[in-house]
Amino acid sequence: MPRISRRKLLVSGFAVSTASLLGNTVWAESDPREQPGKADVGSPLNASTPEPREQLLFDFGWRFTFGHGADPTKDLGFGFGQSDFSKTGEFKFSKAGFDDSAWRTLDLPHDWAVELPFVHDDAGTGDSQLRSHGYKPLGRRYPETSVGWYRREFEIPSTDNGRRIWVEFDGVFRDALVFVNGCFIGRNNNGYVPFRFDLTDVLNYGGRNCLALRVDASFGDGWFYEGAGIYRDVWLSKTDPVHFEKWESVVRSATDGNAARLSLSTLVRNESAEAVNCSVRWKIFDARGAAVAVAESRTQSIAAYESAGFRATAGLANTALWSIEEPNLYSAVLAVEIDNQLRDTERVTFGVRTVVFDAAKGFFLNGKPLKIQGTCNHQDHAGVGAALPDGVQQFRLSVLRQMGCNAVRTSHNMPTPELVDACDRNGMMMMCETRQMSSNPEGMQQLATMIKRYRNSPSIILWSIENEERHLQNKNEMAEQGARMGASMVRLCHRLDPTRLVSAAVDGDNEQGVSVALDVIGFNYNLNLADEFHTKHPNRPVFGSETSSAVSTRGVYTTDKLRNQVSSVEGYWGTPEDWWSFYGEREWAAGGFAWTGFDYRGEPSPYGWPSISSQFGIVDTCGFPKDFFYYYKAWWRSEPSLHLFPHWNWSGREGDEIPVWVYTNLDEVELIVNGKSLGSKKVPRLGHVDWKVRFEPGAIEARGSRDGKMVLSEIRDTTGPVAALRLTSERNEVNADSEDVAILTVEALDSQGKLVPVADNQVSFEISGPAKLIGVGNGDPNCQESDKEPKRSLFNGLAQAIIQSTFETGQIQIEASCLGHAGARLSAKVIINSKMTKLRPAVPIPPRS
Ligand code: GAL
Repeated sequence: MPRISRRKLLVSGFAVSTASLLGNTVWAESDPREQPGKADVGSPLNASTPEPREQLLFDFGWRFTFGHGADPTKDLGFGFGQSDFSKTGEFKFSKAGFDDSAWRTLDLPHDWAVELPFVHDDAGTGDSQLRSHGYKPLGRRYPETSVGWYRREFEIPSTDNGRRIWVEFDGVFRDALVFVNGCFIGRNNNGYVPFRFDLTDVLNYGGRNCLALRVDASFGDGWFYEGAGIYRDVWLSKTDPVHFEKWESVVRSATDGNAARLSLSTLVRNESAEAVNCSVRWKIFDARGAAVAVAESRTQSIAAYESAGFRATAGLANTALWSIEEPNLYSAVLAVEIDNQLRDTERVTFGVRTVVFDAAKGFFLNGKPLKIQGTCNHQDHAGVGAALPDGVQQFRLSVLRQMGCNAVRTSHNMPTPELVDACDRNGMMMMCETRQMSSNPEGMQQLATMIKRYRNSPSIILWSIENEERHLQNKNEMAEQGARMGASMVRLCHRLDPTRLVSAAVDGDNEQGVSVALDVIGFNYNLNLADEFHTKHPNRPVFGSETSSAVSTRGVYTTDKLRNQVSSVEGYWGTPEDWWSFYGEREWAAGGFAWTGFDYRGEPSPYGWPSISSQFGIVDTCGFPKDFFYYYKAWWRSEPSLHLFPHWNWSGREGDEIPVWVYTNLDEVELIVNGKSLGSKKVPRLGHVDWKVRFEPGAIEARGSRDGKMVLSEIRDTTGPVAALRLTSERNEVNADSEDVAILTVEALDSQGKLVPVADNQVSFEISGPAKLIGVGNGDPNCQESDKEPKRSLFNGLAQAIIQSTFETGQIQIEASCLGHAGARLSAKVIINSKMTKLRPAVPIPPRS
């Protein structure tokens, strides 16, 4: 258990509790000859040691077709009679040579839901409605679009005979049945947790093999858009029979001034018929690849088909701590050798940092106070749905970072590894949340997998066991059961990871139910209750696990219920100020997570059809900032910033009073309208300034000053009609690996080169060279145009296109064109260079049989 003094919860920097870690495993402690901090240059391990294991990306060259959720004749005959599972080896669709020539070819990750048309269906109630899924036809009432089949043939060389071979899925939505070479292999019944199967026995060595999946998205896990299909990476992993167990290698650190003591542990499995004698060696590398420490366990014997635990300690002398400004990472390379022969290696990335939740003083990273300036996010982006290429994850973090967000909450499910890696590398903290709150086997397995998978990641500061479990947190319902389930889950978290604290996102009673067992108390909304709770329980740390839910439509300044649009001035359900002026001002509060960073499909709040996505985002589904973004930028970042809104294109509303707002962290703002000053206003802390201005065409200007000196100014002009397009890419070079992406922005400009903030022209895209268009978007929550066609209307002047490289190098040209004022054809081009890169090892695509 973590050492928990109720007031100050120290989450790193204490000794590993041997009893809780070891379970019944036999452990070999570190060799007393180990010399902390001193690298053994003679070791076979270096930063680029070739691994005897192969971890092959299994994403390319799949075949896909729709099945059927109700009619077996349209579902490859699956389930037509009684006997599908009666004899092993009879599933024809998973045998090499099965005719899939009519199936579509695609690469993973893939989300078929985003490709489906929208269907207006409001039958049912609440979360069960199709609106939750963004009006995509998934569910038992849509059997023809809810089941998908995937096939992939592959070769296994005869030299692999004797190795252990696994297929590993990072996440499939949902209910996957896995078949190989005619045999049923296993199933997974949730949408977010990775799963793997040992294929060693069933493979055809020296020949062709086939992997097939039936994926059934009829059931959902949540109440938001969840996608459908193999929407995360797949891997083929090959190891020696003596190998490290999956997600059992752990590095924990305790700091002491500049030094750090590392507790190293792992499990080795011996899947051979003989007992083996072995030890484990660790070599620690800093971010530059320099070896900084080594360690070795004692040697011990592992019986045939058994596992054994190995432990050691090592020391770091001048530790480069992981922080949000300097996300320093280390890696530990582990090796297991038998008779001087390397059998397996594994690389574990970790960081050294301390995290404290103090009930009186808030949150501390590495001993320094820091407010959690967080956002909740779902995995969903314009154009690609839930199937996010790694580059899109990176892009999204950079958007959040620009507004000063320093933490993300993976609402409401286990995140994909690329997001956690990106957070580790970019200094973004994370509250990592499991999907199913339950102490049933499924709930505990989901939680255990999440913790084992990510417990080395320094970005994770807190585990979350649930979100708004309405029945388990309140009196008169199942509060007692909630308390017991919560206690079991917290116990599991502490056992698997004694270095982190556990919380939950609770919108009910935090004095009973689930919350009883929590280390840190999370408030979803209910700001008034947070104050009361802190007064009553001054020794329990508190933060805002979910807050805000301020709704706004990008570039819209009048709430219009008929058009499903919400004003960005006052919002709907409040503004960011409402919650940040609360958590930002209270020393005891650790900070919080706004709902949400990005808009997402589904939950089309506050309206339903024809809205297909939410409007909670601080940025839209493309990542284009709404005005609220600049509130956060002003109060979450330290450099001076100033943002004036709305736009000044109010043709037809001459003489009307228009609210004019400024978000800034400067002291004072003066507003100038068509050259005339409307006076200056002092900026309240964590607030904004505003005026009411009668509209006449021209320009408004905000001049912000600090200590009497003007620091920043911004102008909004009345623009002319669309006279040009501007196309920009956030990158001018991509890797030719069929994975990398470039994200392009199209803007409509007037003849002066000013953004036309109300433009809605339809833009077409043409791509030439080695790339494909994988999605388009415009951030309009009411736009039902296709995400996949090479065209998109601008929404308030902007649209986005995402292109992905192929394996070929060369110049990619993207042209955006549209009809402008008086029918003139406008176009803009961007050239991106696709360059040679080292490819990730991948499973080759065999020629068609
Ligand atoms: C919360 C919930 C979120 C989202 C949000 C909308 O209650 O946790 O998933 O539904 O409300 O306001």
